[in-house]
Amino acid sequence: VNVELRFNYCLFFYVLKVISVVSSTKEQTVVGIIGQPVLLPCDRSTLATPNYPTRTRIYWQDLIPRVLHVFKDGNEEYEHQNLWYKNRTTINTDQLASGNLSLLLNPVNVRDNLLTCDVILIINDVNSQECQITVNVAASYQKPTLNFTDMTLVCTTHGGFPEHQVTWRTHNRTLERHEAVTKTTQDPGTGTYNISSRVNVTEGQNITCSIYNPILNETQSNFIVIPASKEETHLLKWILAAFCPLVVFLTVILCLKYPNLRKPWRKMIHCCPEPEPENTAQEAEIAELNPQQ
Ligand SMILES: *[C@@H]1O[C@H](CO)[C@@H](O)[C@H](O)[C@H]1NC(C)=O
Ligand SMILES: *[C@@H]1O[C@H](CO)[C@@H](O)[C@H](O)[C@H]1NC(C)=O
Ligand SMILES: *[C@@H]1O[C@H](CO)[C@@H](O)[C@H](O)[C@H]1NC(C)=O
Ligand SMILES: *[C@@H]1O[C@H](CO)[C@@H](O)[C@H](O)[C@H]1NC(C)=O
Ligand SMILES: *[C@@H]1O[C@H](CO)[C@@H](O)[C@H](O)[C@H]1NC(C)=O
Ligand SMILES: *[C@@H]1O[C@H](CO)[C@@H](O)[C@H](O)[C@H]1NC(C)=O
Ligand SMILES: *[C@@H]1O[C@H](CO)[C@@H](O)[C@H](O)[C@H]1NC(C)=O
Ligand SMILES: *[C@@H]1O[C@H](CO)[C@@H](O)[C@H](O)[C@H]1NC(C)=O
Repeated sequence: VNVELRFNYCLFFYVLKVISVVSSTKEQTVVGIIGQPVLLPCDRSTLATPNYPTRTRIYWQDLIPRVLHVFKDGNEEYEHQNLWYKNRTTINTDQLASGNLSLLLNPVNVRDNLLTCDVILIINDVNSQECQITVNVAASYQKPTLNFTDMTLVCTTHGGFPEHQVTWRTHNRTLERHEAVTKTTQDPGTGTYNISSRVNVTEGQNITCSIYNPILNETQSNFIVIPASKEETHLLKWILAAFCPLVVFLTVILCLKYPNLRKPWRKMIHCCPEPEPENTAQEAEIAELNPQQ
C-alpha cells in the first residue's frame, strides 16, 4: 500500500510539473502604446510540425469571451468577430503552418488595457490552448511644464497612461503629498490623463516636478529656480524711482540756498572772520550794471 501511494504521489507531481512548465512559456505580457500597433506573440514552432489539416480552427479570444479573430478551414472568418476588435486585427496566414500564431492589434485603445487573449487551436475537434497574452496599455507623459506666478508653482503634464502621482523634490527633500494640490483629468476621447499639481514656493528654491510611468518605467521631469518675488522687485523699483529724483532735488535746493556752502565750514575751522564774499559779488554785479562808474 505504501509503495503504491508513493508512486501515485510522484506521478501526480510529474504531471503537475509538466503542465506548469508548458503553461508558463505560453503566458506573456506585452505593452501596447495607445494609438500604435501591438503584437500579441504566439510562437508554437517548437511543437511537432503543425501541418494543419483542413479541419483546423484557430480562435483568438479574450476572457469575456469576445472573439478577436478566427481562422477556419483555410480562411479568415469575420462573422463572429466582436465589433470592438473590428478592423483592428491582422494575422499572418502564411506563417500559421509554421506555428506563428501571433496577432497584430492596431491601433491600441485605452480600453484594451489588461486585455487577455487566448489562442485556441482546434484540430479534428480536439482543442488546445496555445498561448495567453495580456496587454498592458501605456502612453508616455509629456515633459512637465512649469508655470510660476505669485509664489505658487504649477506643474502640468498631459497625455499619459496609466494615472500616476506627480512628485516634487526640492533641495534633496521629497515634498509630502499634502504639500501639493493635484488635479487629474481623463481625456474622454483617448482615455489619457492630464495632471496638474500646485505648490507654494519660496525665493531661490530649486524645485523639481516629476511624473513616473510605472508601465514604461519612464520618468519625465523639469525644474525651476524660483526668482526673487514680484513684490520685492517692485519695492526696489519704487525705492530707486523715489530716491534718485530726491537726491537731485536736494542737491539743487542746497546749491540754490547755499551758493557758498563751504563758508560755514571755514568759519568753524578758522576762528578769525573772513571778508564777506557776498558783498564782493554784489559790488561786481552793480559794477557790471553800471560800467561807467
Ligand atoms: C471598418 O472599416 C470599414 C472600411 O474601412 C468601415 O466601413 C467600417 O465602418 C469599419 N468598422 C468599424 C467598426 O470601425
Ligand atoms: C509572426 O508573425 C508576425 C506578424 O503577424 C511577425 O511580426 C512576427 O515577426 C512573426 N514571428 C516570427 C517568429 O516569425
Ligand atoms: C500661467 O498661469 C497664469 C495664471 O494662472 C495664466 O494666466 C497663464 O496663462 C499661465 N501661463 C502658461 C504659459 O500656461
Ligand atoms: C541628498 O540625500 C542623499 C541621501 O538621501 C545624501 O546621500 C546626499 O548627500 C544628499 N545630498 C545633498 C546635496 O544634500
Ligand atoms: C499655499 O499658500 C496659501 C496662502 O498662504 C494657502 O492658502 C494654501 O493652502 C497653500 N497651499 C498649499 C498646497 O499648501
Ligand atoms: C489635456 O491636455 C491637452 C494638451 O494641453 C488638451 O488639449 C486637452 O484638452 C486636455 N484634456 C483635458 C480632459 O483636460
Ligand atoms: C536644480 O536642481 C536640478 C535637479 O536636481 C539640477 O539639475 C540643477 O543643476 C539645479 N540648479 C541649480 C541652479 O541649482
Ligand atoms: C527602470 O529604469 C531604470 C533606469 O532608467 C533601471 O535602472 C531599472 O532597472 C528599470 N526598472 C525596471 C523594473 O525595468
